[in-house]
Amino acid sequence: MADLRRTCSGCFLLLAVLLVAQFQTADAWGLNPNVTWQDFNSTVNNTDYMKLNEKPVLMLVHKSWCKACRFLVDNLNDTNDPNVTEFVTLSQNFTMVDITDEDEPEDAKYAPDGRYNPRIVFLEPNGTVRADLMCTYNCDPKYLFTYSFADQVVESMRNVLDVLASVIAKRPAEVRKYVRAYKASHNGASPYNGTSPYNSTRPYNGTRLYNGTSL
Ligand SMILES: *[C@@H]1O[C@H](CO)[C@@H](O)[C@H](O)[C@H]1NC(C)=O
Ligand SMILES: *[C@@H]1O[C@H](CO)[C@@H](O)[C@H](O)[C@H]1NC(C)=O
Ligand SMILES: *[C@@H]1O[C@H](CO)[C@@H](O)[C@H](O)[C@H]1NC(C)=O
Ligand SMILES: *[C@@H]1O[C@H](CO)[C@@H](O)[C@H](O)[C@H]1NC(C)=O
Ligand SMILES: *[C@@H]1O[C@H](CO)[C@@H](O)[C@H](O)[C@H]1NC(C)=O
Ligand SMILES: *[C@@H]1O[C@H](CO)[C@@H](O)[C@H](O)[C@H]1NC(C)=O
Ligand SMILES: *[C@@H]1O[C@H](CO)[C@@H](O)[C@H](O)[C@H]1NC(C)=O
Ligand SMILES: *[C@@H]1O[C@H](CO)[C@@H](O)[C@H](O)[C@H]1NC(C)=O
Ligand SMILES: *[C@@H]1O[C@H](CO)[C@@H](O)[C@H](O)[C@H]1NC(C)=O
Ligand SMILES: *[C@@H]1O[C@H](CO)[C@@H](O)[C@H](O)[C@H]1NC(C)=O
Ligand SMILES: *[C@@H]1O[C@H](CO)[C@@H](O)[C@H](O)[C@H]1NC(C)=O
Repeated sequence: MADLRRTCSGCFLLLAVLLVAQFQTADAWGLNPNVTWQDFNSTVNNTDYMKLNEKPVLMLVHKSWCKACRFLVDNLNDTNDPNVTEFVTLSQNFTMVDITDEDEPEDAKYAPDGRYNPRIVFLEPNGTVRADLMCTYNCDPKYLFTYSFADQVVESMRNVLDVLASVIAKRPAEVRKYVRAYKASHNGASPYNGTSPYNSTRPYNGTRLYNGTSL
């Protein structure tokens, strides 16, 4: 299993080659369609959204030209793997953020042990990055935030819900407090009123430039 793990740290040649291919293809990237994926800019990068966010965040950082990313993404969409069903169920307890290609934020805090792909970084509901919430099962010791299989991701998600249990439990009260203060200073208008970025987020629509069939 370990030899199947690959990360794309430093695949510059591959990038150069595939950048050409990228503009020649246009198809879906293939993230599991049963998960509500959102983009980084309208969630983690949006302070209004994060003030109302009650779930821990799973940030999946991947590249359309990276084979190891394709491997993980395909495994998370494998209907024959019972762990994928579990992944979908657990995803409902997370804000699931898909970050591909140029969507990747530059801030080093989102790359706790390097800027390789794919990687999954977990955040508290208020957006605090938790660099201690790394891979916990069958991990690659050189890349602590990388994953290849659904069972690994599921183990980490369970661990996150466990470790953050008290943080998550306290969160609804924090959000209610914020909403009260917001209403008090906006003549009773709700921050959930539909013009809030929270509700005008662009859900991830599955469009990708490169469909990865060359793997
Ligand atoms: C991937 O893209 C290629 C080129 O556009 C296309 O021929 C192929 O059918 C696509 N594959 C899938 C699975 O969509
Ligand atoms: C992902 O799984 C769905 C079935 O839920 C399937 O329709 C879709 O083609 C799969 N995507 C890829 C890229 O394999
Ligand atoms: C990010 O969202 C802000 C508004 O919240 C918008 O002004 C900006 O253009 C967006 N940036 C990107 C790269 O999508
Ligand atoms: C998505 O959900 C449908 C309906 O439950 C199921 O048939 C399908 O296998 C699921 N696909 C994936 C990739 O999880
Ligand atoms: C998830 O995957 C692991 C390892 O491949 C396997 O042992 C386990 O039975 C799977 N879980 C379920 C619910 O099938
Ligand atoms: C997931 O969220 C639901 C609804 O908020 C909650 O009832 C459930 O206990 C959560 N599951 C875990 C594993 O935390
Ligand atoms: C995050 O938001 C800032 C300010 O709106 C914007 O300049 C930046 O491009 C966004 N970052 C990403 C990765 O979208
Ligand atoms: C988020 O919550 C943690 C405690 O769980 C706290 O240490 C941190 O300051 C909070 N961050 C923000 C931006 O509120
Ligand atoms: C919704 O919130 C926005 C931003 O605070 C505010 O400008 C607007 O008046 C509110 N709309 C309603 C119908 O409350
Ligand atoms: C988003 O808007 C819809 C309809 O306008 C509303 O029913 C829903 O409660 C809003 N979601 C949040 C989180 O406020
Ligand atoms: C998805 O979003 C992209 C860019 O944001 C857009 O070009 C594309 O037309 C959208 N696709 C669908 C099916 O809405």
